[in-house]
Amino acid sequence: MSANYAKAEMDKTSRIYVAGHRGLVGSAICRRLQSEKYANLIAKTRQELDLLNQAAVGRFFAAEKPEHVFLAAAKVGGILANSTQPAEFIYENLLVQTNVIDAAYRHGAKKLLFLGSSCIYPKFAPQPIREDALLTSPLEPTNEAYAIAKIAGLKMAEAYRKQYGFDAISLMPTNLYGPHDNFDPESSHVVPALIRRFHEAAQRNSPEVTLWGTGTVRREFLHVDDLADACVFLMQNYDQPEIINVGTGEDVTIRELAELIAEITGFRGRMVQDTSKPDGTPRKLLDVSRLNALGWRARISLREGLEQTYRWFTTHIANVNAKQDTASAAP
Ligand SMILES: NC(=O)c1ccc[n+]([C@@H]2O[C@H](COP(=O)([O-])OP(=O)(O)OC[C@H]3O[C@@H](n4cnc5c(N)ncnc54)[C@H](OP(=O)(O)O)[C@@H]3O)[C@@H](O)[C@H]2O)c1
Repeated sequence: MSANYAKAEMDKTSRIYVAGHRGLVGSAICRRLQSEKYANLIAKTRQELDLLNQAAVGRFFAAEKPEHVFLAAAKVGGILANSTQPAEFIYENLLVQTNVIDAAYRHGAKKLLFLGSSCIYPKFAPQPIREDALLTSPLEPTNEAYAIAKIAGLKMAEAYRKQYGFDAISLMPTNLYGPHDNFDPESSHVVPALIRRFHEAAQRNSPEVTLWGTGTVRREFLHVDDLADACVFLMQNYDQPEIINVGTGEDVTIRELAELIAEITGFRGRMVQDTSKPDGTPRKLLDVSRLNALGWRARISLREGLEQTYRWFTTHIANVNAKQDTASAAP
């Protein structure tokens, strides 16, 4: 444990700010904290507090004085969104994280948890990827702008700890999925994209679904409730400068994932691979031995998590569609 600052314990009365509380991760962290009866949660919508606005973020921290901050606000998207909007990905993520980390420190927060991503690691990092693979070789080009912003965020957390003794920790989660995910076909990640495509194909009795890429690349998927559990665990039990991976330690091919989702959604047609589309990194599995050694392990199996997410999607499909219509009508 670091010696130069007090241990930042989070108790049931701590003032806890979850930035991005309407997103996939932020909403799961809030559910988790509420279920454990943390009584002083602070949350602001983007309309109430635009985290791109440095002055507004400063005023918010000065007024609310949160003690613990979960930084789950970010601009996030799949391969298509990342490769077509790199400027927005680097600009918005740099600004949001810089504003929040600096204001948290300046206004006396005891601890901040920054959420990075496994895409900060080199494209050809040895598998499973250990935390010390960071900055050892080039990144995957399709999401380089996003990854560079995230690397700046974790380095900022490290620098604030080193210079100011600010207890900022950085987690690198693997690919996530779960309730409140983004199901928009234009900007979603692979799990919600496949759930939607197979669901719609099953409803229409379509004979065929086309999948991007070869289907042979391997990916790891963590249910967001497991991530929220890890976030609360690490907020309470981790105060080291080193980044820490969060994942299941197991991966599947995209084809295997698609077959599982096809089965869960009741799709009975063929799956065709469009190999003219990019695959991305060939394999991305995190080494989670450091996290496991601290006493934390993922509990939700992929099948169980996908079944639960599909149930959520079918129950909320009207809201999911309405949210997308609003987003696509925005300037
Ligand atoms: N999803 C994954 O697979 C994954 C994997 C690894 C790491 N992570 C990390 O986890 C974190 C959260 O990701 P997520 O999947 O939960 O993303 P998400 O569902 O898109 O949620 C992001 C949240 O941030 C908010 N936000 C963005 N810009 C804002 C701004 N300028 N002002 C106020 N709020 C703003 C969004 O508000 P609106 O609701 O108004 O848009 C949204 O609620 C990110 O740091 C991401 O890198 C995600």
